[in-house]
Amino acid sequence: MHLLPDAAQPQLLAEVLLREREPADAALVALYPAIRRRHTSRYPFADKEIPEAVRAALSEAARLEGARLDFPGAWHAQSLLELVGDAEGRDTLDPRNAEDLNRWSRIGTAEADTATDGVPDYAFGPRKWYGGAPVRDFAGRRPVADRATMTFENTPHLALLSTAGDGTEDWLRAGQALERVLLLATAHDLATSLTSHALEWPDLRWLARDPRSATGCVQMVLRLGYGPQGPATPRRPVREVLDVE
Ligand SMILES: Cc1cc2nc3c(=O)[nH]c(=O)nc-3n(C[C@H](O)[C@H](O)[C@H](O)COP(=O)(O)O)c2cc1C
Repeated sequence: MHLLPDAAQPQLLAEVLLREREPADAALVALYPAIRRRHTSRYPFADKEIPEAVRAALSEAARLEGARLDFPGAWHAQSLLELVGDAEGRDTLDPRNAEDLNRWSRIGTAEADTATDGVPDYAFGPRKWYGGAPVRDFAGRRPVADRATMTFENTPHLALLSTAGDGTEDWLRAGQALERVLLLATAHDLATSLTSHALEWPDLRWLARDPRSATGCVQMVLRLGYGPQGPATPRRPVREVLDVE
């Protein structure tokens, strides 16, 4: 696979050559069944520790894709939650955020059931009554029929995915590492959700960095835990994103 194979076509992100005889990477083959099971879960997770061996395997998965995954200690996790809180506060004052939510969320059966992209209301999860888990509420202030309200975990298990640089190729590697980590987490019966909230503000993103790898650029904050998987959500047609020759 070649990332960004043609400088004249920046929208061509990767070129993949399939060769039947090439020996398959057993670690990747083992992740295949998790593809259909993995869905973002915006539900509460149990207050249960993630075994150290699983955390180490997830970090190794990120490393194999050229990124790193760090599990922040207590104070760093708390500071990340505060950064997400700051971002949420800024968002409520920024009309561009409401526009963004409108553009990417699909509310009501007519819209949610026919969507080919975006986040449909059946994937919003319950409204948060209480708890520190950073779960973005895609409804904003809009009502959603039959939506439950629940208490979320207070001390969520967070992980930071970062790359050494911050160019287009780093973003692609971050995406590959994210997918590999999410699939491995699913294979270990973990549920996952993402929060890019704090990373959307350059000053907050800078503060989110792992102090032990201070040169890293944070690309995603993951929330992992034991809980229900979310529902499957729509995808754009494959022909819109992939040319097969
Ligand atoms: C770059 C990026 C940022 C995301 N940020 C958030 C986020 O802040 N909050 C959230 O709930 N989901 C976030 N997501 C998850 C997407 O909403 C989710 O992957 C998408 O709706 C598809 O659903 P699925 O993961 O169940 O397949 C993000 C995904 C990507 C790729």
